Amino acid sequence: PKAEPCVLVIFGATGDLTWRKLIPSLFSLARKDCLAEDFRILGIGRREMSDDAFRDDLRGRLTASGSDKGTAEAGAFTEDAWNAFAASISYLSGDFFDPETHRRLAERMKDFPGANRLFYLATAPSAAPEIVRRLAEVGLNREERGFSRIVLEKPFGHDLASAQELNRLIAEDFDESQVYRIDHYLGKETVQNVLFFRFGNALFESVWNRNHIEYVEITAAESLGVGHRAGYYDESGALRDMVANHLMQLLALTAMDAPVSLEADSVHDKKSEVWRSIRPMTPEQVASRTVRAQYVAGTVGGEQVPGWLEEPDVPASSRTETYVALDLRIDNWRWAGVPFYLRTGKRLAQQVTEIAVHFHKPPLSFFPCQDCFQSNVIILRIQPDEGISLTFGAKQPGTSRRAVPVSMDFCYQGNFEDPLSAYAVLLLDALRGDSTQFTRGDGVEAQWRIMTPIATAWAEQDQEPMPTYVAGSDGPHQAEGLLEWNGHAWRSIA
Ligand code: BG6
Repeated sequence: PKAEPCVLVIFGATGDLTWRKLIPSLFSLARKDCLAEDFRILGIGRREMSDDAFRDDLRGRLTASGSDKGTAEAGAFTEDAWNAFAASISYLSGDFFDPETHRRLAERMKDFPGANRLFYLATAPSAAPEIVRRLAEVGLNREERGFSRIVLEKPFGHDLASAQELNRLIAEDFDESQVYRIDHYLGKETVQNVLFFRFGNALFESVWNRNHIEYVEITAAESLGVGHRAGYYDESGALRDMVANHLMQLLALTAMDAPVSLEADSVHDKKSEVWRSIRPMTPEQVASRTVRAQYVAGTVGGEQVPGWLEEPDVPASSRTETYVALDLRIDNWRWAGVPFYLRTGKRLAQQVTEIAVHFHKPPLSFFPCQDCFQSNVIILRIQPDEGISLTFGAKQPGTSRRAVPVSMDFCYQGNFEDPLSAYAVLLLDALRGDSTQFTRGDGVEAQWRIMTPIATAWAEQDQEPMPTYVAGSDGPHQAEGLLEWNGHAWRSIA
């Protein structure tokens, strides 16, 4: 179904997120005829600019080449399609911290057809409380004649206390049903498929528990560095940038119980139960069950790259982690005793995001098996080469009595059409009022309840040398140790 008519107000209209993700995704939705005829976009930014200048700027970005290009999200560019889409875009210049901007915004809203509005905060996180309050001051939070929703980007706070405070501030002016905390991983087709794979088939769910599963690995390895975002990344680090949101979501989807229905609250309830079942670590547990590290110069994809501390805009004293590995335990009936190993990092050997579910070994082994720990694994490949594979041991042909690992594979490519981009999916959901694939307020707090003790313990170990890994490698050797003492091993990402 098409989205309802609405005005989408983007705060931070001249920023990166707008031209890299939001506008290309909206453009692709427009061309697929998913947006209502009366759909309008109003960008707000500090820079003085006319409507036309704003449209031209966006057009230039979409058609630029190389790294300045609005990403593939937009699909093929045609002049006619762009002109039709661009007619819905306008611009308002103003400082988000100035009440006058919000008064002018409220005035401007009267020019648009309909009364539905979606406010997208594509700004620095520090601007969010101010914008939320000012919107309420001019009455734009009210839902008298149509809906009023806000979309908030990550990071949602930087620890438990700040996330709680932000939730409290938002709740003063907006009902939870109006709030959409975005995590773009939830818009990925393969991430959404985790629930369909588990609960759309009777085959897997009956073995999806501690009786059959030995351990679970969740990997989000990136070969890329931080690009031009070193300033942001130095403040956040891998734990806050990737684990506190994307990896926590992958973990919840893998571990949650079946929801009562696919209604947003039913799904959110089950995810929150998973996060609440993970006991926050003590400082001793942080020492033994977490690894953090920074990359040093190396070769990635044939290219020589500098180490983290040599990157532009990174202080030589930076103790920001560019790699994290964790051994988390979910203390409930389904998962007690099953390690969930999470790892993510920049400048690793490959770009790969996957969930690997390892089943127990057979109780007796008659067949000598090479690489047996790679057998009986279900791999949900999130990206790239999206797909699912099941590996198992098969008899090596001939007179041998050896078993060798083989696999059954499903690939998205060739079986399905190219999906919508994650941002397009989530924008459409927000326009339609479906918050299932967003994070509820108690969810972000539950995630921070797990992350904050880790970040705190690390901050207190500031005298200890920071582990390192060579750019282009699998990560620090300490991460191997995290699994070894349980008799487990990471899948190779090289
Ligand atoms: C973002 C992080 O949320 O996700 C980035 O801030 C990271 O550091 C990115 O590179 C990864 O997203 P994707 O969709 O490329 O896996």
